[in-house]
Amino acid sequence: MAKRLSIHDLREMKARGEKITMITSYDYTSAKILDEAGTDILLVGDSLGMVVLGHEGTLHVTLDAMIHHSRAVANGAKRAMIVIDLPFGTYSSSDLPLSLRTASRAISEGHAHAVKIEGGRRMAPVVGALNASGIPVMGHIGLTPQSIYLIGGYRVQGRSAEAAKRLVLAAKALEAAGAFAIVLELVPAELARKVSKVLTIPTIGIGAGPYCDGQVQVLHDMMGMYQDFVPKHTKRYANIAEVMREGAKNYLDEVRAGKFPGPEHSVDLKTVIKTKNNGPARKL
Ligand code: KIV
Repeated sequence: MAKRLSIHDLREMKARGEKITMITSYDYTSAKILDEAGTDILLVGDSLGMVVLGHEGTLHVTLDAMIHHSRAVANGAKRAMIVIDLPFGTYSSSDLPLSLRTASRAISEGHAHAVKIEGGRRMAPVVGALNASGIPVMGHIGLTPQSIYLIGGYRVQGRSAEAAKRLVLAAKALEAAGAFAIVLELVPAELARKVSKVLTIPTIGIGAGPYCDGQVQVLHDMMGMYQDFVPKHTKRYANIAEVMREGAKNYLDEVRAGKFPGPEHSVDLKTVIKTKNNGPARKL
C-alpha cells in the first residue's frame, strides 16, 4: 500500500528541489484517477462553487458542501495528501474559536489531512491557533478569490514595489506562524521566485510562473471540462468536454435508433452484477 504523503515529505521535496504537484478534486472517481496518476496533493478547492456547482465565484460554497465533497475525495485517494479549503466566512483572525470549529469539522467529517485558508499577515493568528490544535495549514496569498469584492477583480497581485514587499512579508508571517506551504495565485514570476527563495516551506503556484516549488491547476480547467472561460494560466491537457459530448451523442443516437441496449447489455434472472470489493450485488 502506498505511503500517505505528509507535510514533512513536502518540505523534503522542496529541499531536494523536487517539484510538488497539486490538482483540485471534488469527488471519489476523479480522486482515484488523480491519486493513481501520482498527484502529491489533492485540493478540495472552493473552486467547487464554480466548476461543480455553477456559481459565478467561490463565495457561495458552504462548509457542509466542502465536507461532503472532501469525504468523497478521501474515499478515492490512498497516497495523496488531501487539503480542504475553508470556505468564505467560516474562519477569521477575530474569531479563533469559529476558525477552530470550522477546521476541526473539515478534518474530522471531511477526512482531509490539512486545511487551506486565504489571506496574508492577518491570518497568522489563525494558523497558530489551528496548529496548536494539531491542524496543518496551507496559506494562500496573491489573488485571494474570497476577497474578490475587496480586490476589485481577478487581477495580477504584487505589481508595485510596495505590494511586492507586502506579499513577501505576508509569506514570511505565514511561515513564522506555522503554515506548511503557501499557494501563490496570480503573482509575477520573479516575485514568486523571490518568495520561494526566502521561505523554507514550499510555495505552490497557480499563474505564478515556473519558479514555485510546486504547481496547482483546477481539474476542470486543465482537463477541458469547464467551458465558461479558460484562465490564461491554464494549460489544457485533455478535452474531456469533447469526449463526453461525443459519447453522449453516440448513446442518444443508439437509444433513438433502438440499437442500445443489445442482448449483451440485457439481464436475465441469473445475472449477478459485480460491484466494488465484490460487495452485495446492486439491486436491479
Ligand atoms: O479553490 C481552488 O481551486 C484554489 C486553487 C485555485 C488554488 O484555491
